[in-house]
Amino acid sequence: MTTTCTAPGKIYLFGEHAVVYGEPAIACAVELRTRAQVKKTDAISISSDLGTTGLDFEVHPYVCAAIQKMGSPEVCIKITSEIPVGSGLGSSAAVTVATLAAINIECSQGYEKEKIAQMAHEIEKEVQGAASPTDTFVSTFGGVIEIPSRKRLDLLDCGIVIGNTGKGASPKKTAKLVKQVAVLKEEYPDSINPIIKTIGSFAKHGEIMVTQKNYQALGKLMNVNHGLLDALGVNTIELSALVYAARNAGAYGAKLTGAGGGGCMVALTDSQVEVAHAIEKAGGKAIITRFTREGVLQE
Ligand code: MEV
Repeated sequence: MTTTCTAPGKIYLFGEHAVVYGEPAIACAVELRTRAQVKKTDAISISSDLGTTGLDFEVHPYVCAAIQKMGSPEVCIKITSEIPVGSGLGSSAAVTVATLAAINIECSQGYEKEKIAQMAHEIEKEVQGAASPTDTFVSTFGGVIEIPSRKRLDLLDCGIVIGNTGKGASPKKTAKLVKQVAVLKEEYPDSINPIIKTIGSFAKHGEIMVTQKNYQALGKLMNVNHGLLDALGVNTIELSALVYAARNAGAYGAKLTGAGGGGCMVALTDSQVEVAHAIEKAGGKAIITRFTREGVLQE
């Protein structure tokens, strides 16, 4: 038998960085998936775009940690992915969740989804040193999720275009940028705390707008959120070039997503082709996608 599971990436509609200080955020699974194909064999083997290895934590840290977490069964694993790596779209969470879920079925381990999400979060913490449970939770369960309450909001039926700057992609960057915001907050608490609170307020307003499917209003607040992330010092000129290109091409709104410092932006739009074209013209790589209610799935 062979078992194949896929798990989605995610974007933040609102609230990255502020969520570190307990403010609410809205994270959404998107229909870009990582696929893990697992087959019981007589030796551990892992293949991906990075090459074919045994239990090599240097090359395949998340997959190796997932194999170990599941009791080191002898399995052959093939990974393929549509999610750009280390760009703020939750690629490491998706590969971890898909691998755990596929081993779980192939080796009849019987874990519930809740446990898969928890193990995936533990793995992200082990590999990265620190990680919020958001990416692994959203990748496991899918949908539009308010953080930290984990409340499931209605699915948005509006289109999304992601723009990848192709710069600054690195999982280590998140820790650096979170630290940078912490330093700024410590230096100027009177100025920075209200910014963080205001970012938190977007998720509260956003919850109502999501229910109303009010994309104009959501877009407007995404634009303000981008401005405040810029104020926190995590924006880049390349991200803003793609954000403004998307807005000028008719997107409801656009902002950076994830930790920033490069990586990806996201635009909410019903004119996906036009917005994608504008992003490419501004020097980014555009990915047309949509929201998904489906978390990890067996194929
Ligand atoms: C990174 O994807 C999101 C941050 O808010 C960090 C975190 O929540 O762990 C910047």
